[in-house]
Amino acid sequence: MGRNRSVGYSNLLLSLSDAIDLANSEIAKHQQRTAYIAWETAKAAHLNEELIKDLFIAALFHDVGALTVEEKTALQNFETADLEKHCIRGDILLRRIPQHERIASIVRYHHTEWKNWDEPIDKDYVTASQILCLADFLERLIDRDVYILHQRDVLTRKIKELSVEHVYPDIIDTFLSISDKEEFWLDLTSPRLYSILNKQGPLGNLIVDYDAIEILSKFSRDFIDYKSPFTATHSSGVSACAEILSRLMGLSDQDIQEMRIAANFHDIGKTAIPNSILEKPGKLTNNEQALVAGHAYYSHYIISTIGGLGHIAERAAFHHEKLDGSGYPFHCYEMNMSTGARIMAVADIYTALAEDRPYRAGMPRDKMIGIMRLMAASNAIDKNIVGLLADNFNAVNEHVSQSQLDARDFYENHLKPYYGNTAPPPPRN
Ligand SMILES: [Fe+2]
Ligand SMILES: [Fe+2]
Ligand SMILES: [Fe+2]
Repeated sequence: MGRNRSVGYSNLLLSLSDAIDLANSEIAKHQQRTAYIAWETAKAAHLNEELIKDLFIAALFHDVGALTVEEKTALQNFETADLEKHCIRGDILLRRIPQHERIASIVRYHHTEWKNWDEPIDKDYVTASQILCLADFLERLIDRDVYILHQRDVLTRKIKELSVEHVYPDIIDTFLSISDKEEFWLDLTSPRLYSILNKQGPLGNLIVDYDAIEILSKFSRDFIDYKSPFTATHSSGVSACAEILSRLMGLSDQDIQEMRIAANFHDIGKTAIPNSILEKPGKLTNNEQALVAGHAYYSHYIISTIGGLGHIAERAAFHHEKLDGSGYPFHCYEMNMSTGARIMAVADIYTALAEDRPYRAGMPRDKMIGIMRLMAASNAIDKNIVGLLADNFNAVNEHVSQSQLDARDFYENHLKPYYGNTAPPPPRN
């Protein structure tokens, strides 16, 4: 196919970080901006290059454990008393990525005040966590409605006033040494910060292959799905279903891997939807429905900004499209939908019908197949793919269930103990 099978690492990480902060204008770019402050401070502190890279990545994902829009917004506005849980969840999620132990540790302690450390500051992840602690604190202090140079004195004073108990004094001094440059503040709040970090940031021109992309797509799947017990196994199910349908359709191993990646990413735009909507037991209002309709657009936006993954973006983001143009949000027709996109649409519907939702329980086989055959008959979804699914129902079902069991197991045993939220209402029958 002649496709370049690699992407820029920094572009990939920046896009995923962006996705986590999509929720609303109050938190947009919070992690990117925190990463910029941390990076500048780390350079001034003369940390070694490898540690600077790890700190930068940790900063880009430091609030990944704050899985819901509600929790992220509360953190941003200093409205939450429990700062520990999202640090622990972030640590757990990042530690699943190979060789990310130090990054996970930096995230684990980003709200740990200096007085609570019993390890020395010269331990690498202690310094890095303390820099991240300061950077995160500063970013949250910024008033997004006021020109940055009109508030820099107030901000600098607040950092100066941070007590020894909060942040290690040398780190405060190092920060103050960079804060007199207007350039620092203007870069920090620049709408072009993404490209500044992408082009000049500490990750340089590092390139990664599809195996690395797949690993990061699984990380994304975790932070997308584990927002709510109702979605906890959704993308795992879609990925397994897309994988087996692609194999049955005779796709190449390379295409099958791309389908797994696309499926892991397909709902990444859902990070912007509050759980009050995702978990609503009743019918959504028109305004709520409109918010939900945006998620596939944002999935496309996030994946296509990575660069070089346009084909993955389409397979991922067309999952609510219909062959007759009645889908959303792109209103594609048959000719716009590749085999991969058609498989993804079927995989998403199959998985959704089989799952318990806040407004209904999962469906038995005959009912699901019946619904899908009707949709195929009206040319909403691909009838060959539906036929293939019906003919191989047991194999598909087994493959999907197994991967969902694994995802559920991780959620129940590792993450759930660190959820502060009360459980949502059970599904209605
Ligand atoms: Fe945080
Ligand atoms: Fe934060
Ligand atoms: Fe979706």
